[in-house]
Amino acid sequence: MAENLQTIIAQISEIAAEFNKDIQQTKSRDDTEQVKVKFLSRKGVVQNLFVLLGTLENQDRPRAGAELNRLKNDIQNAIDEKLKSFQTGKRSIELFDPTLPGKEYHIGSFHPLLQVLDEIKDIFVGMGFRIEEGNEIETDYHNFEALNIPPDHPSRDMHDTFYMGGKYLLRTHTSPVQIHTMEQQKPPIRMIAPGKCYRKDTPDASHSPIFNQVEGLCVDKGVSFGDLKGVVQAFAQKMFGKDAKVRFRPSFFPFTEPSAEYDFSCFCKGKGCRVCKNTGWLEISGAGMVDPAVFGFVDYDPQVYSGYAFGMGVERIAMLKYRVNDIRIFYENDVRFLEQF
Ligand code: DAH
Repeated sequence: MAENLQTIIAQISEIAAEFNKDIQQTKSRDDTEQVKVKFLSRKGVVQNLFVLLGTLENQDRPRAGAELNRLKNDIQNAIDEKLKSFQTGKRSIELFDPTLPGKEYHIGSFHPLLQVLDEIKDIFVGMGFRIEEGNEIETDYHNFEALNIPPDHPSRDMHDTFYMGGKYLLRTHTSPVQIHTMEQQKPPIRMIAPGKCYRKDTPDASHSPIFNQVEGLCVDKGVSFGDLKGVVQAFAQKMFGKDAKVRFRPSFFPFTEPSAEYDFSCFCKGKGCRVCKNTGWLEISGAGMVDPAVFGFVDYDPQVYSGYAFGMGVERIAMLKYRVNDIRIFYENDVRFLEQF
């Protein structure tokens, strides 16, 4: 019947309009899948029309069937298209979006003090020194007494530290490693001992309550002050270049006799700068010939052996090398400072 054909054709265009509206409103894959179910599933809108086809007159069926098939294909294509758009949109973000800012990767590096310490070790190992490990928690005996600093000695005033009760304290210098080494080994000895030291010092541009030292000790037959000067001079030139100068000034330490303090020439070449406080020299530490009294504590015969010892402030060396005029900046862990090394 012609009427039936008309109704079906009308329904087809209604469904097409409805589908167009639905598909336009889809905002995700899920939305689209739901529209697909509504129109194309076994009990969906389009299938219901196919069922109605069977009620048409024979001559009307081909036309209605063709229209219906076109509707079904159009819907299928539109849905495929839509699903694909979500897929490609998603992938392109996952794979590569050239408009996104790049990721910044930070490459770490060794702390400047560690770098300087490594260089110091290399230089001394190159001159035949061994590296000894000490303890940051020391006995009063090793930190003071065996270094010829009895309990009432005034030089203890400058070495106030954290006492842990009993005989233990945080070491105030690396010199106690001299004693440990001589207790355990017989001459000849040629060693350096790097490590942290602790003192009750108020922080300022040149003081920190925790700091690093390198101790040096050489004991053998016939060792002289000239050997000490030669080794320190050679170190300075390896570290700072051929022009580096060393100066020894008379001083006093209970564990060396004679004793000296030594300075390295400043990078300002004496013109004057804040690091050297306009003197042209930067104090590094103390040094001297091992006092026979110290040999007495470790059972070395001072008639047979002599030795020299020296200290070295690692921060001082680093300040000189990197032209840093405030020691505190080494411990602040400010990345803007650290990443320059
Ligand atoms: N230990 C001393 C200090 O921290 C430095 C020092 C002086 C070390 C003379 C030595 C030395 O080995 O011989 O003040």
